Amino acid sequence: MKVLIIGSGGREHALAWKIAQSPRVDRVFVAPGNAGTASEAENVDISPTDFARLIKFVKQNDVRLTVVGPEQPLVAGIVDAFAAEKLRIFGPSKAAAELEGSKSFCKNVLRQADVPTADYHVFRDHDSAATYLAEREDRPIVVKADGLAAGKGVFVCQNRDDALEAVRRIARDKEFGAAGNHIVIEDRLDGEEASVMAITDGRTIVTLPPAQDHKRAGDGDTGPNTGGMGAYSPAPRVTPELLATIEERMLVPTVHAMKRNRRPFRGVLYAGVMLTNQGPRVLEYNARFGDPECQAILMRLKSDLVDLLEAAVDGQLDRLERVEWSPDPAVCVVMASRGYPGNYERGLPIRGLEIAASVPGVKVFHAGTTTRQGQVVTDGGRVLGVTASGASISAAKLQAYTAVKAIRWDGAWCRKDISDRALEA
Ligand code: AMP
Ligand code: GLY
Repeated sequence: MKVLIIGSGGREHALAWKIAQSPRVDRVFVAPGNAGTASEAENVDISPTDFARLIKFVKQNDVRLTVVGPEQPLVAGIVDAFAAEKLRIFGPSKAAAELEGSKSFCKNVLRQADVPTADYHVFRDHDSAATYLAEREDRPIVVKADGLAAGKGVFVCQNRDDALEAVRRIARDKEFGAAGNHIVIEDRLDGEEASVMAITDGRTIVTLPPAQDHKRAGDGDTGPNTGGMGAYSPAPRVTPELLATIEERMLVPTVHAMKRNRRPFRGVLYAGVMLTNQGPRVLEYNARFGDPECQAILMRLKSDLVDLLEAAVDGQLDRLERVEWSPDPAVCVVMASRGYPGNYERGLPIRGLEIAASVPGVKVFHAGTTTRQGQVVTDGGRVLGVTASGASISAAKLQAYTAVKAIRWDGAWCRKDISDRALEA
């Protein structure tokens, strides 16, 4: 059968690579894809939010399954648009994707489902939020724009003045546009973060092995926030007991609450979890695979991903055979452009990809790349996700960095300590 993947990042390259391995799949398309997906599959030059053209393409090419990578098309209702045409698509409906698209909606569901999370309040305007801040005790707090803001709408504040500034930027300056129409203010939690994802058909869940990403730009988890500079799986801090708790006390009650709310959640339910001294707390839900967690996790998947995705789409996860995972850990190191997460240049030729690909256990997933006159060039801030599996986390790390060293372009950089947190655990 033919499969279409929507998106253009490292996550989508990993999905294309894994889906192309399915004996049941003979053609994989990626819209719009990158230079890496072009070598694994066929790129289609259609934007992820141009639903009409995507639907036309799927019908003309007899695509039997569409898999959505990023959150924007989900929150904009791509799954509803496909379903209206009776086309099979993996991902949550617009109503269910609100779990990621609206932080206040997410918090309400968490409260309803009695899932441990930070205490919070929601405000509709600048003044009510500012009054609340003025009246409460001056301690660390987190201020969030309610809607999608490409990861930039969250302010982790040390004190009241920082929080007031964040409220101003969201509600008065409207830095995030309509995403700032509501403001969520919550207690700051301390601990280490982990990513726990599950694939669900709205009733049954299949929990994936835990992962951790490195969100900060600098070594030792310092510097500005990014889309993620690397990831690894498994995450030793998430012990099997802790994973069972997260599944039973967080993921399952959330899936049930969504069903009760008549917004059944089908797709990837991704819990960003803070491991506090008082136990795990959900920081947020995402409605899709994490990037770069997906790259590390899919390196470890032994079963056919298409079986898993189709069972979720068809509401038959309860009938699926056990999903098999390699015990070997995987580490993904992101190579980025000079200037990222700020401004950066595009179009720089990348060298050494073949040598990197020949390092044992390594797969180089492309993120921000394109092809110009037969040459792979940079086309984004996060350019590559160099991913390796090995007999241990440190073995996987070594292989990944061996491959990284072979790759060059002007201004290429990466963190040097991806997965060290796992080694400390
Ligand atoms: P979110 O998009 O809600 O996950 O927030 C993005 C990042 O902000 C998270 O990955 C955390 O690093 C941080 N964050 C969010 N909420 C909190 C909180 N209540 N306490 C501490 N850090 C938080
Ligand atoms: N790695 C974080 C995310 O995908 O949101």
